Amino acid sequence: MTRCFLVESLKSDLGVAELVGIPTPQLDDGEVLARIERFALTTNNMTYAVYGDALGYWNLFPATRTGYGCMPAWGYAEIIDSKASDVPVGTRVFGYFPIATHLKMRPTKVTSRSFVDGAGHRTGTPEVYNLYELQPQEADPRHDSLIAIYRPLFITSYTAADYLRDRDFFDAEQFVISSASSKTAYGTAYCLADSQAPKIALTSARNIDFVNGLGHYATAHEYTDLTSLDATKRTVYVDLSGDPALRRRVHEHFGDRLAFDCLVGSTQADGFPEEDASLVGPAPVFFFAALQLDAYKAEGQSRTFMQRYQRAERDFLEHVGRPERPAIELIEHTGLEDAATVIAGFHDGSTDPAAGHIFSPNAE
Ligand SMILES: NC(=O)c1ccc[n+]([C@@H]2O[C@H](COP(=O)([O-])OP(=O)(O)OC[C@H]3O[C@@H](n4cnc5c(N)ncnc54)[C@H](OP(=O)(O)O)[C@@H]3O)[C@@H](O)[C@H]2O)c1
Repeated sequence: MTRCFLVESLKSDLGVAELVGIPTPQLDDGEVLARIERFALTTNNMTYAVYGDALGYWNLFPATRTGYGCMPAWGYAEIIDSKASDVPVGTRVFGYFPIATHLKMRPTKVTSRSFVDGAGHRTGTPEVYNLYELQPQEADPRHDSLIAIYRPLFITSYTAADYLRDRDFFDAEQFVISSASSKTAYGTAYCLADSQAPKIALTSARNIDFVNGLGHYATAHEYTDLTSLDATKRTVYVDLSGDPALRRRVHEHFGDRLAFDCLVGSTQADGFPEEDASLVGPAPVFFFAALQLDAYKAEGQSRTFMQRYQRAERDFLEHVGRPERPAIELIEHTGLEDAATVIAGFHDGSTDPAAGHIFSPNAE
């Protein structure tokens, strides 16, 4: 009998996550059982929960109890039981999983590279969340950990930079980037390197040394120092914090020199942003990487996009993962017991940006 566990988040207080035992999933024809090898948790996973209702993330992995939801995470798994002839036992995949030991899936659209989980409840979100890429049999734990942490974040950084580049960077003379210590933020600064405009970091006091040490920003400032920034320069705001009060201060400080407000993240927001007609300057535009990927697919550009993306990702991972000066330290968690504490840290903001949390839910 396989022992299966799942971590569920209390929807009314996303700082609370609980480990529950679940029955071993029984397979019907066409289904497979994945044993989750390794997944990452960053603040991004908390945002999936914050947007759980608004963007449909709660639908992907149903919780066992009313009032709870399953926070999704990116990682690797191996198929350990199969009633789908085209996805045999031993297949390794990378994709989207609950914080759990196992996941039952119904592979559809099976190709030599990937399949899509066609389970009935997995609807209403962009396809990237249901896609599982086949992986080599031999795992490289450090590489896999870095991919699990950075892939969903760096693909956002990369596509957000594409989006701005396609619009001539809105003629920015400077980029101001909030929650600059987040991986998505410094990935974006890295991807904007072909614009001459300086990338200016906004961060909390406790993270200023970390941000300065990254080397991706021209200067770093605490949130309280916003008014010291040059308001005569044409500015693009890349918002990873999602903090409405900070947004208001940014709009008021830069006034008509604010060329564009690109809302990418919500590290400091507790819900989906509401329209604010009283805001000075351009209305924030929500950038959603998953929809951008769907758009590339609709235009038949997925393959060429992935080729150039993979080159950029490899260079970025070499940079942030260089052994002599890694941007993050990998923190390996065995089992799922630590998940509640790590999630609480994302919720109350005590999380250390220098930590990369990796879980091996089935390791002894
Ligand atoms: N739009 C999209 O398609 C898309 C895709 C991927 C990620 N994102 C978003 O990008 C954001 C960053 O994600 P990440 O995984 O890169 O983050 P991360 O590396 O885990 O970043 C951690 C940083 O976020 C800030 N932070 C986190 N929790 C906080 C809290 N409770 N209160 C105050 N500050 C907090 C702090 O930065 P500071 O001290 O510097 O503020 C902290 O150092 C998330 O909101 C995520 O959802 C968006």
